[in-house]
Amino acid sequence: MPADRGADEVLRAEGAGRTYKSGKEEVAALSGADLAFNAGEVTVLRGRSGSGKTTLLNLAGLLDRPTAGRIIFLGRDTRRLSDRKLALLRRGNLGYVLQDSGVVERMSALANVALPGFYAGLTVDKSRKLARAALDAVELGGKLHRMVGQLSGGERMRVGLARALVLSPRLVICDEPTASLDAETANLVIGALRQAADTGACIICASHDPIVIERADRLITLAAGRITGDARAGAEAVP
Ligand SMILES: Nc1ncnc2c1ncn2[C@@H]1O[C@H](COP(=O)(O)OP(=O)(O)OP(=O)(O)O)[C@@H](O)[C@H]1O
Ligand SMILES: [Mg+2]
Repeated sequence: MPADRGADEVLRAEGAGRTYKSGKEEVAALSGADLAFNAGEVTVLRGRSGSGKTTLLNLAGLLDRPTAGRIIFLGRDTRRLSDRKLALLRRGNLGYVLQDSGVVERMSALANVALPGFYAGLTVDKSRKLARAALDAVELGGKLHRMVGQLSGGERMRVGLARALVLSPRLVICDEPTASLDAETANLVIGALRQAADTGACIICASHDPIVIERADRLITLAAGRITGDARAGAEAVP
C-alpha cells in the first residue's frame, strides 16, 4: 500500500492509458496521464469531442481499468483489487453524475436518492432523511414523491445529482452535468458541486460550460487522448 501521497490526495493516475479494441483497429483513447486530484477541489476537464474526457472519467471513477499505468484511490493501488473489491470501494466513496443520469424512472425522486443509503447499509429512516436533505439542496424538496419518469430533463438530472452527493462521497465524477440546462439550473448544479468540494469532496467534471469553468479550481485540457494543459483557475490553461 503506497503511503507517499499528500494528506489531501484522493486520486492519482500514474502513466494511465486506455486503448480500446474495435475490430482489428486499436484506439488510444487516453495515453500517459499523470495527474493527482485533491480533496476540496473542483477540476474541470476540457477538450474537443473524442479527446478522451469520458475515458479519463471512467478510469478516475473506477468504472473501467487502464490498459497502461495505474490508478491510486485513497492510497490504494486499484490494480490489486478484484472487481468485487472495486465495487465495494466505489460504494459510499464515489458519486457519479453521468450523461444518462442513470436514475430509475419508475421510482420516486425520494426512493432514487435513498438507494445509495440502503446499499451502504443505512436504515430506511436514515437513508430517507439524507435523501430529503439532498433533494432540498437541489430545490426538489417539493417533488419528493413524484415518479422520476414524470419529471423534466433538468429535474431528473438534479435527482441524479442529489443521488451522487447524498452520502457525501470522497470523489464525485461528472460528465457534462449542465449540458442542456438553463443558466439558473446550471448555477444550482455547480453550486451544489462547489459546496460538496468546500466540505471536502474531490470533484472531477468534464464540461465546456463557462458557468462551470468559472467556478472551477483547476482546468485540465485534453487533446487526442493526451493531457495538453493543466492550470489553476485564474491562470489560463496552456493550449
Ligand atoms: N468503447 C469504445 N470502443 C472504441 N473506441 C472508443 C470507445 N469509447 C470511446 N472510444 C473512442 O475513444 C476516444 C475518446 O472517447 P471519449 O468518449 O473519451 O471522448 P470525449 O472527450 O468524452 O468526447 P465527447 O466530448 O464527445 O463526450 C474517441 O476517439 C472514441 O471514439
Ligand atoms: Mg464524453
